Amino acid sequence: EKGGYDYFMLKEIAEQPRAVADTLLGRIDAAGSLSLDEVRITASELREMDKVVIVACGTAFHAGLIAKYAIEHWTRIPCEVELASEFRYRDPILDPRTLVVAISQSGETMDTLMALRHAREQGAKVLAICNTNGSTIPRESDAVLYTHAGPEVAVASTKAFLTQLVACYLVALYLGQVRGTKWGDEIQAVVRDLSHIAGAVEEVLGTMEPVRDLARTLADKDTVLFLGRHVGYPVALEGALKLKELAYMHAEGFAAGELKHGPIALIEEDLPVVVVVPSPRGRSVLHDKVVSNIQEIRARGARTIVIAEEGDEAVVPYADHLVRIPVTPTLLQPLVATVPLQVFACELATARGNEVDQPRNLAKSVTVE
Ligand code: F6R
Repeated sequence: EKGGYDYFMLKEIAEQPRAVADTLLGRIDAAGSLSLDEVRITASELREMDKVVIVACGTAFHAGLIAKYAIEHWTRIPCEVELASEFRYRDPILDPRTLVVAISQSGETMDTLMALRHAREQGAKVLAICNTNGSTIPRESDAVLYTHAGPEVAVASTKAFLTQLVACYLVALYLGQVRGTKWGDEIQAVVRDLSHIAGAVEEVLGTMEPVRDLARTLADKDTVLFLGRHVGYPVALEGALKLKELAYMHAEGFAAGELKHGPIALIEEDLPVVVVVPSPRGRSVLHDKVVSNIQEIRARGARTIVIAEEGDEAVVPYADHLVRIPVTPTLLQPLVATVPLQVFACELATARGNEVDQPRNLAKSVTVE
């Protein structure tokens, strides 16, 4: 049932190109318009929305953080992202013009369920992004967009995360379409980029051997730090979460720009630091800032593990280890940049003798608050 892989996690990592493609399938017609028929909130209701609030936990929360960039960029609607467990207890401001998006692989996470119940009590509409048909969260939502990752068995979320991202991009495009900030051609262009991404994920998967070799050499380390900017920041958080839960190592993700406000004090000789580098094309100012960050930490002794686009030569002199990812549009980069971090955590867990599919103290679906 593990399809020849040692762990479900490895199988699920390998299934990601398919999962991404399946989640896109049939959701865009030939004219480039999105018709998400599982979304039963009317277009006129959506046009009235003046705020999007995303609630989720763990890895799904990281998908939400990335979604914020796409939603605000493509729709110009303000978007907040909040941990479901914090949301309800701070008396959030909600009304019928707030679209709450609840992201959950299992559809049974109690914190997320309680957040959506609270939102609906306040009159907000809730759209669920979920991987499990007929589970509680979609049943209690006003609308649902299912991810088609297929069953995810390993406790650590991998393919569900990538499909959550795809679903979030679709929601962002759909909102843009009904509100008139994104139209046919543009939507088709993004969708085309998205469908190429499945191939790019496949490509990354084919180049992971050096990442595995590197991970094995770090098995006796205590700490690994992760840095990113823009959409690379949530990717850094996700890389750190994977490492904590699988390798039981101290791992933290930081926004690269925050380094000088504190975290740089942690840098010491030979400390592994993974850096997710934005594309040098487009908003190259972000790229250049991250390259300076790499220089700064390396000058203080860090062992830099750099995840950068194919053809990005500026990073080469400062990378102790260089992991190449295919050229992708900035907003979509998390779909490829996350993959090496999943492989890295999985291999470190194996090297440390941990149970990959069933990490200690964790459950696949957290049905208590
Ligand atoms: C991390 C992980 C958890 C879940 C979180 C939410 O790998 O699996 O952080 O992402 O418990 O679970 P769902 O998506 O089922 O609501």
